[in-house]
Amino acid sequence: MDFKKIIKERRSIKYFDEHHKLSKDEINEIFKHTLLSPTAFNLQHWRFLVIENNELRKKIQEVSFNQSQVTESSLLVIITGDLDAWKKNPTKYWRNADKNVQTMMGDMIFNFYNHRKQMQRDEVMRSCSMAAMTMMLSAKNLGYDSCPMDGFDFDAVSKLLNLPKNQIPIMFVAIGKKKKEAWPRGGQLNLSEVVTFY
Ligand SMILES: Cc1cc2nc3c(=O)[nH]c(=O)nc-3n(C[C@H](O)[C@H](O)[C@H](O)COP(=O)(O)O)c2cc1C
Repeated sequence: MDFKKIIKERRSIKYFDEHHKLSKDEINEIFKHTLLSPTAFNLQHWRFLVIENNELRKKIQEVSFNQSQVTESSLLVIITGDLDAWKKNPTKYWRNADKNVQTMMGDMIFNFYNHRKQMQRDEVMRSCSMAAMTMMLSAKNLGYDSCPMDGFDFDAVSKLLNLPKNQIPIMFVAIGKKKKEAWPRGGQLNLSEVVTFY
């Protein structure tokens, strides 16, 4: 699909065809693209939980303001982030590099994040948000629609998924075949309101 079309036609869709299924190849392609998203120091904080079980989807929907995307989408991905990615053998993020580069990056990662709790968490948000966008654009490239979602009870979802303390939910990305168009765009701010040249 043409890049400009992908950008323009990606909209947040509320209602999906519940009978539609994505093929394994399509799902793999979306994830393969998603994993190419950028992250600081290549930490790749994201952990993707694909919710296939319908009973679990219903339970998640109950703590997500009953939003229909949770049960109707073909692919429901809960993007979670690992708060401790920075301290878990960080040389693995540079596994293809020379040993001396691995050591250098390991030291840099430690010095950058050690004792910086807020930064550790902010980076998880940044990485996972990058991934969410790539996921939605990749889905659009295949002719599918999507919805990013944070309208859910974070504690309840963590509990339903038995997430360890260091793994936090960031957002859902629901993907599928739309059965209703998105509302007209709410209204983008003007360039002059948001872009400043220094
Ligand atoms: C972090 C985030 C959370 C969102 N949560 C929800 C949600 O829970 N339910 C929903 O229907 N849309 C949700 N949206 C979609 C926004 O409402 C939508 O992106 C915005 O209105 C702009 O519309 P567009 O994405 O179609 O351009 C969310 C978007 C973002 C970025």
